Amino acid sequence: MRGVFITGTDTGVGKTTVTAYVAWGLRRRGIDVGVMKPIETGHGGTGWPEDARRLATAAGVDDPREWVVPYVFADPVAPWVASQVTGRSIDWEPIVEAARALAARHEVLLVEGAGGIAVPIRADATMADLASRLGLPVLVVARAQLGTLNHTVLTVHYARARGLRVVGLILNGGRGPDADLAERTNPGLLTAMTGLPILGQLPALSQAAGPPSPERLDAVAHVDWAALMEPERWGG
Ligand SMILES: Nc1ncnc2c1ncn2[C@@H]1O[C@H](COP(=O)(O)OP(=O)(O)OP(=O)(O)O)[C@@H](O)[C@H]1O
Ligand SMILES: [Mg+2]
Repeated sequence: MRGVFITGTDTGVGKTTVTAYVAWGLRRRGIDVGVMKPIETGHGGTGWPEDARRLATAAGVDDPREWVVPYVFADPVAPWVASQVTGRSIDWEPIVEAARALAARHEVLLVEGAGGIAVPIRADATMADLASRLGLPVLVVARAQLGTLNHTVLTVHYARARGLRVVGLILNGGRGPDADLAERTNPGLLTAMTGLPILGQLPALSQAAGPPSPERLDAVAHVDWAALMEPERWGG
């Protein structure tokens, strides 16, 4: 399967924001992108949960909701906890089948994990096992500011220890010209410590009008689209 699994150093670090922007940007460059959020928690109602909807809108796809987001849980907790609370087990088969169907329809598939790479899905499995089951390499979304070195290095080490190939980092929420010393030195240090390229840097935008849209981000973000689109970044 050709695609990439997008994980983050934490919940709320910007996985959906980055994935939606990358999907939108690839689509504008003529690539047919599919998106998936295999497990989304924190959605109580009916209809599309927020992350899945943001991804599908940005990618401009009309795939069935059951493919884009096979598992939805109401409580805003780790999938394994949500699964235990509801008594609904999370199985690989529906996720892998939906991913295969999406991958068959699109050139590449962007899959957003839930929380970070070590978040549990079952008693015996974490997000890393999900990426592994899908056969996808991993892209890590990390914060741009102070605190990112430790979180990012731990995430990359864990992913690699679980046999995953990590293809790069995207730093989110930077302060541009107002960046402090930590933020200015983070990209170079992260590359030195992990051996990974920084494939993109997205500044923090005002949230007054809701989550920053791909259009707004595009005016200020720096993404190395050529590097991102190199075949070696994508599994399959
Ligand atoms: N560059 C940015 N500028 C402004 N706000 C941002 C930016 N990136 C993310 N946000 C906001 O931060 C919040 C968390 O971002 P996002 O939903 O992308 O994170 P996530 O890692 O996908 O979270 P989750 O673990 O819940 O899936 C959202 O309200 C989003 O609008
Ligand atoms: Mg998200």
